[in-house]
Amino acid sequence: MTLARFKSTDGLDLGGRRVLVRADLNVPIKDGKVADATRLERLLPGLEALANRGARVIVISHFGRPKAGPDPGLSLRPVAEALGHFLRRPVAFAEDCVGEPAERTVAALQPGQIAVLENLRFHQGEERNDPQFAKRLAALGDIFVNDAFSAAHRAHASTEAIAHLLPSYAGPLLCKEIAALKSVLDNPTRPTAAVIGGAKVSSKIDRPPQQPGR
Ligand code: 3PG
Ligand code: MG
Repeated sequence: MTLARFKSTDGLDLGGRRVLVRADLNVPIKDGKVADATRLERLLPGLEALANRGARVIVISHFGRPKAGPDPGLSLRPVAEALGHFLRRPVAFAEDCVGEPAERTVAALQPGQIAVLENLRFHQGEERNDPQFAKRLAALGDIFVNDAFSAAHRAHASTEAIAHLLPSYAGPLLCKEIAALKSVLDNPTRPTAAVIGGAKVSSKIDRPPQQPGR
């Protein structure tokens, strides 16, 4: 199996550009605080690098699985606060990922500043991969960077439809995952073992057909 080549932002002049970064901020929260910050810690160097290159960095993500519209218990606000804490710099937060709150927050960003927009899944257009919703998101950025490998298997507006609307690049985490996959799939050192797991494996792999009599 050969994996496609992915474009990275290396060498691009990002000064003053609005860079929409699709991240995976879907981290465990307990009592309103981030209980495991591993995903945030991994994301930070990439966000810092973009900010240090003068980009206006706009982070978009889903959080949990809201059933019908906005759910205060699934707000990304505490995650944005945790991100600011780890980055040791202010991180702006927009109370909606599209429309006036998002536009206002993005318009106020200076080069080198970072904002997080509210949970994408508060809009049904996200999971429906709705081109109109993707258009509203795309209007907030000049380029799109997907750095959410763990959400890239979903064809949603912020992962798939948006990539048709803006110049699109793979972020450093996505590139790292692809490189790791390439190394085991294209040129494995044998014998090779794969350990596959996760909290939601049932939503990724169908049950094997039942054997008669079992
Ligand atoms: C995850 O935590 O597995 C990813 O954020 C994807 O979340 P989802 O399974 O709700 O799409
Ligand atoms: Mg997952």
